[in-house]
Amino acid sequence: MIQEFHSMRRLPPYVFAEVNSLMARARAAGEDIIDFGMGNPDQPPPRHVIDKLTETLSNPRVHRYSTSRGIPGLRRAVAAYYGRRFGVELDPESEVIVTLGSKEGLANLCQAITSPGDIILVPNPSYPIHAFGFIIAGAAIRSVPVETEPEAFLRHLERAVAHSVPKPSAVVLNFPSNPTARVVDLDFYGAVVDFCRRHGIYVISDLAYAEVYFEGRPPPSILEIPGAREIAVEFTSLSKTYSMPGWRIGFCAGNRKLVRSLSRMKSYLDYGAFTPIQVAATAALNGDQACIEEMRNRYRERRDVLVEGLAAAGWQIPSPPATMFAWVPLPPAFEPMGSLGFAKALLEHAKVAVSPGVGFGEHGEGHLRFALVENRQRIRQACRNIRAFLNDADCAPEALKLAAKG
Ligand SMILES: Cc1ncc(COP(=O)(O)O)c(C=O)c1O
Repeated sequence: MIQEFHSMRRLPPYVFAEVNSLMARARAAGEDIIDFGMGNPDQPPPRHVIDKLTETLSNPRVHRYSTSRGIPGLRRAVAAYYGRRFGVELDPESEVIVTLGSKEGLANLCQAITSPGDIILVPNPSYPIHAFGFIIAGAAIRSVPVETEPEAFLRHLERAVAHSVPKPSAVVLNFPSNPTARVVDLDFYGAVVDFCRRHGIYVISDLAYAEVYFEGRPPPSILEIPGAREIAVEFTSLSKTYSMPGWRIGFCAGNRKLVRSLSRMKSYLDYGAFTPIQVAATAALNGDQACIEEMRNRYRERRDVLVEGLAAAGWQIPSPPATMFAWVPLPPAFEPMGSLGFAKALLEHAKVAVSPGVGFGEHGEGHLRFALVENRQRIRQACRNIRAFLNDADCAPEALKLAAKG
């Protein structure tokens, strides 16, 4: 009998699982935990999208297996979104595919294009599937820092190409970035596309936060760069834009060969999202977009309450320009605890759950990620609790002592 399966050895338990199980225990004991852990939107989708779903459900013809690569109307709606938002013209037949959330699409694209031992460049820290999708597929990961200046990022790419055997076959990009909330402009994409075309490296861009931005210009798409689709695909999702995370609808668009490969892989694995969900998703993309501005305003207000509340607690944090996350350096006095130790202490003493930065990769150490999925009153309450914890002469040194003991 195999003692430990090869794949399981490559998949360590989620670091977040530790904080989650402590949170579950505290809640079971009746404690009110304010949860900034998972990036799981707390608001419902727009009313007209739910209405379209319920209306479609009563059609007897929509309950059969759907199509794995997505119904044509939804693929056309994605192409129309790219047209109006980015000025990018896509062929819905060959350049767009619907996925069961972008996470599924990313994971299956990794399976579709990876040979064992391929080297993939993945930002660190990153959303876990960016690395683990490829690890599951048998690739070796080379980490690259999350840089937003083209020159700095290109230096890392050049180094990776010079020192990797075999040469890297793909690079993952994710801007606006989860967890760091950093953003890039078109010059950045232009430089990366130019480099990757010269070196024959595919680019997989994750644009899950395309519409969650608060400052400056809306985040661009890599597909705006001429020639990008020779090497790049981009993932987008309805999860954050329309607060539909449980519906599991995302998209992959761009390079025909990559889209075709993902489509082939998925044709063996699934029959597509439930047709009424795809019909309602089409209504989301084609309908009134006022809900997106509301979503943005909600996260912006929460962000401001968090930044101001923590400042009042003596903890100055950078204000994120985009995403639904604040990427927060540990207060200097608590750095020795590490992000996991400090996250546990916040849970125990302030009744606040956050994600330890180290869960996103080793370069996430020294940070916490706050997901803005609690309302403003609860964010204020959390900041009061944190203030009491940081200023509590007994509690804080006690937490530090415990951390030092390990
Ligand atoms: C960067 C990033 N990509 C992808 C996803 C997954 O989105 P989906 O719900 O479309 O699978 C998330 C979810 O948090 C994310 O943060």
